Amino acid sequence: MDADAAKFHLLSEERYKYQDADKIVSGIGDLGGSILEIGCGPGFFTLPLVKLQNGRGTYQAIDSNPEMIRMLKERLLTLDQNIARTVRVVVGDAERIYFPERSFDLVFLANIFHDLKDPKGFLVRMYRVLKPGGFIVNIDWSNVQTEIGPPLNIRIPEEKCKAMFTDAHFVFAEKVYGGEYHYGLKFTRP
Ligand SMILES: C[S@@+](CC[C@H](N)C(=O)[O-])C[C@H]1O[C@@H](n2cnc3c(N)ncnc32)[C@H](O)[C@@H]1O
Repeated sequence: MDADAAKFHLLSEERYKYQDADKIVSGIGDLGGSILEIGCGPGFFTLPLVKLQNGRGTYQAIDSNPEMIRMLKERLLTLDQNIARTVRVVVGDAERIYFPERSFDLVFLANIFHDLKDPKGFLVRMYRVLKPGGFIVNIDWSNVQTEIGPPLNIRIPEEKCKAMFTDAHFVFAEKVYGGEYHYGLKFTRP
């Protein structure tokens, strides 16, 4: 995706009507500590999350598309720089990148899980990098016909997603608000 497409699809005014980023991030819970965001794109969720974290920890965002990372860095310049300084942004493949074991208090991902090549392997990695007692929040498209969003045949139904996470030894914590056409699931690493 290039910058124009990202602005059109990921940062459009229209999107905020069905996926209110501020409402979603305020329902996630405690944001103090270390956060890892996977597939951050140009930062639709990153900026509200970083603002709400408000310097009470560290924030690591990763995306495989260098153009998304460039856009995110540009958008981070609009924040209070004392807060923006706590954010690390990196180009990388979430299915290959290495972070030390038990590094993060929260892993957040939105609209990417259905696209991963090896979701089971990804969950093993995420389990490894989360601290015991830490949380992982996954927001993704519901399995209902919509004019926008990925084709139905690649969406992962909420119950299947829940089963995939629990099979990977995460423990279901609660549902979180994900938007009008999305579900949000929160799990903990025991
Ligand atoms: C549909 S966009 C969602 C972006 C953002 N999470 C949001 O909701 O606005 C999916 C993003 O995931 C990134 N992505 C896809 N596969 C990835 C991978 N294996 N590792 C890291 N990023 C990935 C894409 O480059 C893209 O920016």
